[in-house]
Amino acid sequence: MDAIDVIVTKRDGGELSGEQIAWVVDAYTHGNVAEEQMSALAMAILLNGMNRREISAWTEAMIESGSRMDWSALDRMTTDKHSTGGVGDKITLPLAPLVAACGAAVPQLSGRGLGHTGGTLDKLESIPGWRASLSAAEMLDVLRATGAVVCAAGAGLAPADRKLYALRDVTGTVESIPLIASSIMSKKIAEGTSALVLDVKTGSGAFMKTVERARELAATMVDIGRDHGVRTVALLTAMDRPLGRAVGNAVEVTESVEVLAGGGPADVVELTVALAREMLAAADLPGTKDPADALRDGSAMDVWRKMISAQGGDPSAALPVARESHVLTAPATGVLSTLDAYGVGLAAWRLGAGRARKEDPVSFGAGIICHAKPGDHVTAGTPLLTLYADDPARFDRALEALTPAIKIGGAPDLLPLIIDRLR
Ligand code: URA
Repeated sequence: MDAIDVIVTKRDGGELSGEQIAWVVDAYTHGNVAEEQMSALAMAILLNGMNRREISAWTEAMIESGSRMDWSALDRMTTDKHSTGGVGDKITLPLAPLVAACGAAVPQLSGRGLGHTGGTLDKLESIPGWRASLSAAEMLDVLRATGAVVCAAGAGLAPADRKLYALRDVTGTVESIPLIASSIMSKKIAEGTSALVLDVKTGSGAFMKTVERARELAATMVDIGRDHGVRTVALLTAMDRPLGRAVGNAVEVTESVEVLAGGGPADVVELTVALAREMLAAADLPGTKDPADALRDGSAMDVWRKMISAQGGDPSAALPVARESHVLTAPATGVLSTLDAYGVGLAAWRLGAGRARKEDPVSFGAGIICHAKPGDHVTAGTPLLTLYADDPARFDRALEALTPAIKIGGAPDLLPLIIDRLR
């Protein structure tokens, strides 16, 4: 096989054979296809697309580039969730222990944040002592003992994706639905879950800005799941405003614990319970216990405490608090019509909650608490948002991002929290 033939086939709008795909992905992973050749191929795919058969073969080749996890030693069905990411999206934190409390096993490999959306591991690492890196044997031990584990993906999981994603990032080829869908699904399928629920977000704070693009991504990922024998369902959900009231790391852990204690913001509770029901149904485990009951009766909180302790964390420890705070008051009286997710995410990032480069540290205490959400009535001069940062010099740039993100007056024009369900 020859890399140029593969590139030219896709450049001219042709279909790649299964053999061509398996070869080019394997050769690229092992350094036998040059970076410039793979970048030309990624651009040809972005411009000319891939059909369902090609996307499935591409995903398979990326899974085959590394190891596949195996949970057959567990006596529970495995089920997992993947979110395409958003502002204030802390749902994994209450969701994983909740689903475990209802009878399933949740083996979740998560990532760190980059840019304006936060990462689950950054949030959990704000808990003193909590450790993200586990071996496969340690993951199995935590799953057996608690029913849920959230940790970092090891280097052996879909290494082709790791290399290709870094290349796409610097060659303008991230925004291809076939490449995004195969990237996400190769990691989730290699993780070994038998059922998967996708939370595909749309709106200013999401990767997919329009409902149409989000729907296309969701449908492509559901097809890949089905082609690989993983029961897959997708919810399309709103990311035009932040999810919940807390945006950051430690502040999102605190809000998640409130949800596990039976309280918390209504939108976080609604989405957590909806995703939990989907995860249990996809794993064929409906009826063991309803997730809303497991939040009320404390059983999800019991799993959370065990799960955090099993990874070295102290679930009772005080969480980091930023050294400085700044209150932003409502500029007028009326209905808060807009609190734009992207603006709030960008502000939290500028406060230090996120990172610009992969190797940057995050500030665990930095972030934002929203005292009002779109649709709420606010009074001029009363607190609207509280900003937290370790360095007060960060407040000005965060406020610059927030000014255009806030509008008062007029009815809010919001997406429904759960827009659609695809299966
Ligand atoms: N997240 C991924 O894991 N891969 C992509 O291509 C985009 C987002």
